[in-house]
Amino acid sequence: MYRFASFDEPLLNKLPQRKTKISTQSPHIPEKLRRSSPPKIPNLEEQQVVRHFFRLSQMNYGIENGTYPLGSCTMKYNPKVCEDVAGWREFTDIHPYQDESTFQGTLQILYELEELLKKITGMDAFTFQPSAGAHGEFLGMLLVRAYHELRGEDRNEIIIPDTAHGTNPASAKMAGFEVIEIPSNSEGTVDLEALEKVLSDRTAAFMLTNPNTLGIFEDRILDIERMVHNAGALLYYDGANLNAILGIARPGDMGFDIVHLNLHKTFATPHGGGGPGSGPVGVKKLLEDFLPVPRIRKKGDRYILDYDLPHTVGKIRDFYGNIEVCIKAYVYLLMMGRRIRDVAEISVLNSNYMKEKLKRSGFFDFPHRDLKKHEFVMSCQRLKEEKGLRALDIAKRLLDYGLYPPTIYFPLIVKEAIMIEPTETETKEDLDRYVDALISIAEEDPDIVRSSPTKTPVKRIDEAYAVRNEILTWKDI
Ligand SMILES: Cc1ncc(COP(=O)(O)O)c(C=O)c1O
Repeated sequence: MYRFASFDEPLLNKLPQRKTKISTQSPHIPEKLRRSSPPKIPNLEEQQVVRHFFRLSQMNYGIENGTYPLGSCTMKYNPKVCEDVAGWREFTDIHPYQDESTFQGTLQILYELEELLKKITGMDAFTFQPSAGAHGEFLGMLLVRAYHELRGEDRNEIIIPDTAHGTNPASAKMAGFEVIEIPSNSEGTVDLEALEKVLSDRTAAFMLTNPNTLGIFEDRILDIERMVHNAGALLYYDGANLNAILGIARPGDMGFDIVHLNLHKTFATPHGGGGPGSGPVGVKKLLEDFLPVPRIRKKGDRYILDYDLPHTVGKIRDFYGNIEVCIKAYVYLLMMGRRIRDVAEISVLNSNYMKEKLKRSGFFDFPHRDLKKHEFVMSCQRLKEEKGLRALDIAKRLLDYGLYPPTIYFPLIVKEAIMIEPTETETKEDLDRYVDALISIAEEDPDIVRSSPTKTPVKRIDEAYAVRNEILTWKDI
């Protein structure tokens, strides 16, 4: 089992500095461009720096340490070969201002990745410009706006169910829309009557995640599609997490007009950690002319950048997107081939296996429909009432067991929610270990659980204070 190391690790600038000065005399840099004084960075040996970061990494927990079932985040193990290929000099040494004739191979990868994503989702065209899921949602909202504006329709409302990820209403609002939230029914799916009530000639789009964030598949999706389109609105698919439906169902076939994907979840780049992401947006034909420029097209055996799109919303970032994340997704998809369906089947099986074992333990409640997809949400409200244990306490105690906690308090409609997404890359032994830890915590002395974590380098912190008072650079300490 993983154990957090605990070092009293100083900042780099507090380590003993080298006596010799940092050289600013590189012969490769022209005289007039050289600094007159050394840069103000710590003057250390390579070995000191490596050991510093290695020690820090041992005080941390990552997907390489063990199970990381952070619901709605898809922290799965990603094959290292994808990282390896994305790091090839042929890709990393390209400059975005190079002439397109000099990076044909990279354009071919982007073109072919677009074709693969079209097949997987049933959409007609993709752009790779957005750098994250939320960025993709924002672009999606700009497309919705441009579409209605061109048709001369004044539609300013976006409908969103109460299970939606927080970025959905935020993106809609940022794009200038009014957000209307509708409640879910007792099954945990869209309440069609509530939807009918708010649909009108003011509705611009309905944003939906399917399976939703409760891990439940919206099986009335074709009715929803009919209702939304009859009202003259568009249907938006939050495909941040595609694990559950890969190779089985497609948003395009469900009638969605726009979808965003998180390549940094489903397709071989880890989510979280602040690294580069990619939130490609796919659309049906009716929205293709609104996509950002440039589009990558194939002319004969050449790949070209096409800026000539009549109704483009323009650009939402520089150049073509986070290319290395796209390369990882491309390698992953080529490796998986038709086996991509296994991702969906195994991630759904793992999720239901864990859910069923936890349910049988009798400590946790499982509101809404029983059969889940890739993730499930359980409530520890009863443990709160009977033993004074909150979801937060249970999550913190898992750290003492050497396990990464799940997502908690989301979605908001479940009291004391714990949201678990095991993913397809965990073994049965790992799933069992996680379930056993949760059951053991529920049986423990509540005082021990409430005072956890005790075995981590940093103990329980005031999270609200930490969020409101961020220290972003060492200079602020
Ligand atoms: C359902 C859902 N939608 C959207 C997002 C936003 O993605 P990102 O974090 O890349 O902005 C997430 C992120 O976790 C998500 O789970």
